[in-house]
Formats: sequence, C-alpha cells, structure tokens
Amino acid sequence: MNAIEIRNLSKSFRGLYAVNHLNMTVPIGAIYGFIGENGSGKSTTEKIICGLIHPDGGSVKLFGREHTDPDVCAKAGVLIEAPGCFPNLSVWNNLMLQAANLSIRNTEKEVVKVLKMVRMEGAASNKYKNCSLGMKQRIGIAMALLGNPTLLILDEPINGLDADGMRIMREVLVDITRNYNCTVVISSHILGELEKIATHYGIVRSGKMMKEMTATELKASCRTYVAVRAKDRNRTKAVLACKFSRTEEDEAGYIRVYDRITPEEIVTHLYENGILVSEIITDRIGLEEYYIDLIKEGR
Ligand SMILES: Nc1ncnc2c1ncn2[C@@H]1O[C@H](COP(=O)(O)OP(=O)(O)OP(=O)(O)O)[C@@H](O)[C@H]1O
Ligand SMILES: [Mg+2]
Repeated sequence: MNAIEIRNLSKSFRGLYAVNHLNMTVPIGAIYGFIGENGSGKSTTEKIICGLIHPDGGSVKLFGREHTDPDVCAKAGVLIEAPGCFPNLSVWNNLMLQAANLSIRNTEKEVVKVLKMVRMEGAASNKYKNCSLGMKQRIGIAMALLGNPTLLILDEPINGLDADGMRIMREVLVDITRNYNCTVVISSHILGELEKIATHYGIVRSGKMMKEMTATELKASCRTYVAVRAKDRNRTKAVLACKFSRTEEDEAGYIRVYDRITPEEIVTHLYENGILVSEIITDRIGLEEYYIDLIKEGR
C-alpha cells in the first residue's frame, strides 16, 4: 500500500490541461520532492489530493482508499499558499482557534505538541504579524499537523527562507517523517535544498509525470565527472576538448570532463601539453543539473 496513488488524473481550466493524465506514487514514509516548471500542474495536483478542487477524471487513492473518503481525508494535513492566520493574534491563539475549528480534543496538549514539532515552543506568545517568514512557514506546518495527519502536503514551504530557516525546516521535515510516521509531499523550485532531504522524486511537465525515482536511483543516474582548474583556462579547455568528447566549463570556472577517465589521465594529458593543474576534483551532477538535462531532452 502507498500513501498516495494517482492514476490518469486530469483537470482542465478553460479547455487547457493543468493536469494531463498524470500518474503518481508516493510510498509511505517518503519525503517526496514534487518538481516541475512554473505552471506544470503541481499545485493543482496537490489541491486535488486534498479535495480542494475536483478533477475531471482519474483516481486518487490515499492509503489504499478513495481520497474523498472522510476518514482518509482527515489523515491529510495541508499547507498550500499562506496559512490563514489572524495577524493580531498570538501564534498560540491562532493554533488554538484552528484546533477548535477542527474539533480536536485535548487542544492545549495538541498545540504544545505541534509547536514542539516545528521548533516554535519559545515563540508561542509572539503575535503572528511579528513573526519572520521562516517562522510563519513553520506555523503553517504546525497548523497542518493539528489532528495527527499521516500525510502532509506542503506547497513550496521553503521559498524565501534564509540558510538557517532552511536548516530548521529540513530538521523539522526529517523529524516528522522519522519520528511521527508522517509521509511528506513537498513541491519546491529550490532543488539543492530538496536534494538534502527527499527520498523520492516526481518530475512533472505540462501536467504529465515525466519521471518518478528514488533518491538512490537519482544518484545512480547522475553523470560523474572530473573537474580541473589551471591558470590558462581557455587553453586548458581547448586541450581537453581536443582529447575528450564531453567537456564543459562550469559556473565556478572548472573545466569538467564527463568521459570515463581517471584524474591521473587528465593531469598527465595536460602536463604533456605544458599545463600545470592547480585543482582537480571528481564529483557527480546533482538534482538541479539532472533536472535541467531531463527538461532539455524532453524539448
Ligand atoms: N483556478 C484556475 N483557473 C484557471 N487556470 C488555472 C487555475 N489554477 C491553475 N491554473 C492553470 O493551470 C496550470 C497549472 O498551474 P499550477 O498552479 O498547478 O502550476 P504549478 O506547477 O504549481 O506552478 P508554480 O511552480 O508556478 O507554482 C497553469 O497554467 C495555471 O495558469
Ligand atoms: Mg504551484
């Protein structure tokens, strides 16, 4: 059984597909990175999963049951766009109100629990309007966590966060999946950050699922390369391009060679051509470059 199983899902707005026969599988316990260009249908899919909009066709199952089943609906927590909070109320009172709306029992205990889960215990008395963006995003997650969901859908929760805000958010999301048995779907354009926590990925394009893969599969299919730096960059680039078939200069000024080659062979070849290497590293491309390659292939 999977946390989410979507088959053939479609939704059009004014005759144009926002979601086009999309399939998606999210295993239980995953942190599922949902990726795609602007307008590719991520938010629409997430809204359908949560029952906020009706699809034109297809099926959505959550934990093996129809997503419209009220028992299974109650298992999903959602943060799409900003949380609906009252700016002049404290964080505590906002959460208490939401807990009351959801008819949650033991409200105080629940609110204390979710505040702890999002590392906001010390800020409960702050007025919502005085919270930083990072805090507001975490309050949104706390709201979504009320009622003990086993599935959390988060639409771009790390947008605009600074390095420390990102780090806290990473810790919170990993903690939620590991220690509270929650499955998380998170859409984001910040692929470098997503890569640090995601266990699975779904890449959408024009409303269709282009590729689903695990983090291990991603790693295995990311090209490896040797990158060198030398004083005369242009000559280094030319000498390497003459001998190897796949070379390019990266943003940091390293010349990368993607051929199956050892660093020793590269250093020797450059030395024989009168070039002394000042730096050499071996690495593999990350999610961001993999994604760009995939999108280019699909064009
Ligand atoms: N309520 C709506 N009415 C009309 N068109 C809509 C509506 N909601 C979404 N769309 C359209 O559906 C398409 C998919 O939008 P969606 O918001 O799902 O994309 P997204 O992948 O979340 O994009 P982004 O990365 O920018 O958030 C877009 O072309 C959008 O303009
Ligand atoms: Mg969106």
